[in-house]
Amino acid sequence: MQISPSILASDFANLERELKRVANADWAHVDVMDAHFVPNLTLGLPVVEALARVSPIPLDCHLMIDDPDRWAPMYAEAGAASVTFHVEAARDPKSLARNLRALGARAGMALKPGTAFAPYADLLPELDMVLLMTVEPGFGGQSFMADQMPKVREVREAVARCGGEIWVQVDGGVSTATIQACAEAGANVFVAGSAVFGAQAAAAAVDQLRELATRHSSLKGTDRQHG
Ligand code: DX5
Ligand code: ZN
Repeated sequence: MQISPSILASDFANLERELKRVANADWAHVDVMDAHFVPNLTLGLPVVEALARVSPIPLDCHLMIDDPDRWAPMYAEAGAASVTFHVEAARDPKSLARNLRALGARAGMALKPGTAFAPYADLLPELDMVLLMTVEPGFGGQSFMADQMPKVREVREAVARCGGEIWVQVDGGVSTATIQACAEAGANVFVAGSAVFGAQAAAAAVDQLRELATRHSSLKGTDRQHG
């Protein structure tokens, strides 16, 4: 069970300090938005390079951008240990995933709430993670979409059939109130922005989320321990 706090909800004037507040987390989730794929603009390559130099934990880059075939490999080169592209924006997701892995990054594929998984199930062997959005991408602090849980289950089942170690990540509105449903549905990586950085004690919030996820996980044994 892994927690990936989204720095979108952190103080952008003090990113190094904010990363250090969540040094007990497994990943730092970095939301890259380009004002084209989503109606919001956040940060890009130079900031990711800088974060990679100072972060105590590996970077989990979530690219909400057009043309990830072109840009995503540069985020792997910039030092992101995990790079997730949106399949809705990718021209050739299979080659892109292969490129990311060849650069030494974990390759993730993200789906918006309205995007079905079945047409992309064949891509699983190329992937290290599937990110399922539980809000419409673009902004932090939105309400969790519980209606996405059947898709989390569907992906977890497909991953189990495929074999190998493919992680299932949920992103959007994850909090102490909603993480149980995600864990029961089979997620093992949990992004949380406001629930972590909005808390008085961010590190304690990370521990609490991880504890809840572990307690309610539908995964058993090594799956649960190692992700
Ligand atoms: C939304 C982003 C999320 C967001 C999560 O487009 O992908 O990572 O920051 O924030 P919360 O946890 O506040 O919903
Ligand atoms: Zn995200």
